[in-house]
Amino acid sequence: MSRISVLDLQKKKADNQKIVMVTAYDFTLARLMDMAGVDMVLVGDSLGMVVQGQSDTLSVTMDEMVYHTRCVHRALQHAHLTADMPFMSYQLSPEQALASAGRFMKESGAQSVKLEGGERSAPAIARLVEAGIPVVGHVGLTPQSVHTMGGFKVQGRDTAGADRVVRDALAVAEAGAFCVVLEGVPMDVAAEVTARIPVPTIGIGAGPSCDGQVLVGTDLLGMNLSFQPKFVKRYAKLEETIVNAVHAYADEVRVGAFPEEEHSFTRKTPRTVGKIY
Ligand code: KIV
Repeated sequence: MSRISVLDLQKKKADNQKIVMVTAYDFTLARLMDMAGVDMVLVGDSLGMVVQGQSDTLSVTMDEMVYHTRCVHRALQHAHLTADMPFMSYQLSPEQALASAGRFMKESGAQSVKLEGGERSAPAIARLVEAGIPVVGHVGLTPQSVHTMGGFKVQGRDTAGADRVVRDALAVAEAGAFCVVLEGVPMDVAAEVTARIPVPTIGIGAGPSCDGQVLVGTDLLGMNLSFQPKFVKRYAKLEETIVNAVHAYADEVRVGAFPEEEHSFTRKTPRTVGKIY
């Protein structure tokens, strides 16, 4: 089976079919996401928070992103694989962006890369597109700018902010991005962007009008029940399931109930007890 291409994704907008994107960072979860038939898997730099336990995404390196993207690549048979360009891997110049994106394409199995920022990132996006590298844009709440935004805050709530989000999305689409993630923006702003740009919008905390939706895989699976932002819907409570399962295992080990005979091996030939030399 071949992987979903950039053209397939763009056609979905034309055909009015929603695009389903999730994040994954490892082989096991990526395989399950692929089996569930998602359209796109994003190896997000959110792995800094989800996998590494950092408080933001800023410290994530290119080496870490390439490593995790390779793990996910081995799992996917169907979904399109895109990978996040980490902080400071593309901000210096369009040439730096090209070198970083080129590394993803050569070493990781990614079919496209995602980078944050609107008007200011347009030259970098244009350079990658010119070199034949498909780009996903990302505007609105851009986590790599957490300190500029004063936290992970919804963007575009006032008129000037909403205008900025729209201008950013237009600039990114104009630069050649084949789709645009809209994160943390009011739903009417997302609806306006979705109507005005020719490429698909993928929303997270951006309301129902986007051409697709993305959620962090561990959020939608409820693997951290103490983390419940407004934009997340949990489709499972795996935190409870996993903790209960590991509790049951620990209890059985402690009372000697595991392993049983069915989990143990027998010899092929009888054992003669005695000296072995
Ligand atoms: O890093 C990430 O997981 C993301 C998504 C939330 C869009 O950028």
